[in-house]
Amino acid sequence: MLALVSSTDPQWVDVALSNLDAVLVDHLHCELKAASNATSLITRYLYHPALVRGLGELAREELTHVQQVHDELARRGLSARPPDEDVYAASLRRALKDHGAEPLLDRLAVGAIIEARSCERFQLLAQHAPTPELRAWYHDLFASEARHYRLFASLAEEIHGVERARDRIQRLAEREAEILSKLPVLPRVH
Ligand SMILES: [Fe+2]
Ligand SMILES: [Fe+2]
Repeated sequence: MLALVSSTDPQWVDVALSNLDAVLVDHLHCELKAASNATSLITRYLYHPALVRGLGELAREELTHVQQVHDELARRGLSARPPDEDVYAASLRRALKDHGAEPLLDRLAVGAIIEARSCERFQLLAQHAPTPELRAWYHDLFASEARHYRLFASLAEEIHGVERARDRIQRLAEREAEILSKLPVLPRVH
């Protein structure tokens, strides 16, 4: 269902579960970036009604996730801190440059792949997190990221045509697997 061409390194689950606090601190920024990316796409592409509607709903949902992660941090007595450098997302944004710029299509493809990878990893946390409450929460997040992946992919197909959109997302998925294989396994969402 997801476009990903690689699976997360099995070590990641152990690394994440042994420092779930760090994962949560990073997760807060992922949700914030997801909301602000959606808002920025709406601002830039206001003339695409399907995009404005779909990403407006997505941004609202991401802000709900921001609040949920923030609440979980508070329950654990943790506070947010500034984000670490996001090498993964920055590398993805650069990844398609060699194949000619397609500004909107590329942003939708990057959105689709980030949501897909988050979806895959939240599913792992839904299976392995230490408490039933956390497993249920990560399961909800997994389902939500699956919907977000489908939204980005379907907007790309609607606006740019099915074949071009699938080709671009596939190409990016291949680059994403290479990028991820070169990054250290850290207690982060990506
Ligand atoms: Fe989210
Ligand atoms: Fe999302």
